[in-house]
Amino acid sequence: MKITEQIKQPIQAEMERFESKFHESMTSKVALLNRITYYIVNRKGKQMRPMFVFLCAKLLNNGSVNERTFRGAAVIELIHTATLVHDDVVDDSNKRRGFFSINALWKNKIAVLVGDYLLSKGLLLSIDNGDFDLLKIISVAVREMSEGELLQIEKARRLDITEDVYYEIIRKKTATLVASCCALGAQSVSQDEAVVAQMRLFGEYIGMAFQIKDDLFDYSDEAIGKPTGIDIKEQKMTLPLIHVLNTVDKKSKDWVINSIKNHNKNKQRVKEVIAFVKENNGLIYAENKMLEYQQKALDILFTFPQNEYRDALQLMVNYVIDRKI
Ligand code: IPE
Ligand code: IPE
Ligand code: MG
Ligand code: MG
Repeated sequence: MKITEQIKQPIQAEMERFESKFHESMTSKVALLNRITYYIVNRKGKQMRPMFVFLCAKLLNNGSVNERTFRGAAVIELIHTATLVHDDVVDDSNKRRGFFSINALWKNKIAVLVGDYLLSKGLLLSIDNGDFDLLKIISVAVREMSEGELLQIEKARRLDITEDVYYEIIRKKTATLVASCCALGAQSVSQDEAVVAQMRLFGEYIGMAFQIKDDLFDYSDEAIGKPTGIDIKEQKMTLPLIHVLNTVDKKSKDWVINSIKNHNKNKQRVKEVIAFVKENNGLIYAENKMLEYQQKALDILFTFPQNEYRDALQLMVNYVIDRKI
């Protein structure tokens, strides 16, 4: 059995119901919007976030979930989808999930509005059902994601990002939402604040590893369903590059910075920078950091009693590191 199937097995019924709920929650009376949301639901992603929601809830509640858990999973995936639609505008990226991005097909102005629509539908799903405790968890993530994306842009402009700022960026733009999945799954079934906080931290560590992996993908030539090699073009400095800048001599550093500042649209030059990062162990360093976060997540997970849901979460943590897309 494939690892993803193995992970899904203890939450199969929940994931099926989630899908229809997710689809339902997007419908609108505006035909254009329905065409676009139809396009979106037919090109679904890995759905890791709802999986985290269900697995965390089941881990803590003897394998049972409730309506709040379902709504929480739908809200998270709506928000995630909204941020991807916006992110592809921000990154000027024309590919997502192996096909054209929304901005590539319908242009930026429509993508911006569709993202807003999905975000509002997510928030309303919580509000209309009185899930205010869940709404609070989600709203913090929405705020932090916007801050993270803007901090990234600020740093890309000045090209002066440090390793600590990189971690702050990825914690905000990515890890916070994964943290919210785990916190929300827990909160949907438990009133125990300490447990919810632990689950949140567990998700945050996974999210950090997840984004480092995503940034490593950008240095590869593999087909991952979205463009690779675009970070340098967008002047986005990620961990492999940051590490190399911290370790090489001044002359090399100036060459790299000058390449990113003034030659970032020159394909040959970008290739040279990528090769330079690889030669100077940038990828290995980032991989090791990713493994450190993976271990931190597992350390928290193992404080919970073993059951099939914990086993599935353990597989999930490992999948974040080993995934091919
Ligand atoms: C992509 O997330 C955005 C990042 C935070 C790197 P996923 O890789 O989970 O995207 P989908 O939903 O599977 O397409
Ligand atoms: C992902 O940002 C994080 C958010 C969507 C907020 P990236 O720009 O690094 O992710 P991909 O590679 O486009 O999915
Ligand atoms: Mg981005
Ligand atoms: Mg992007």
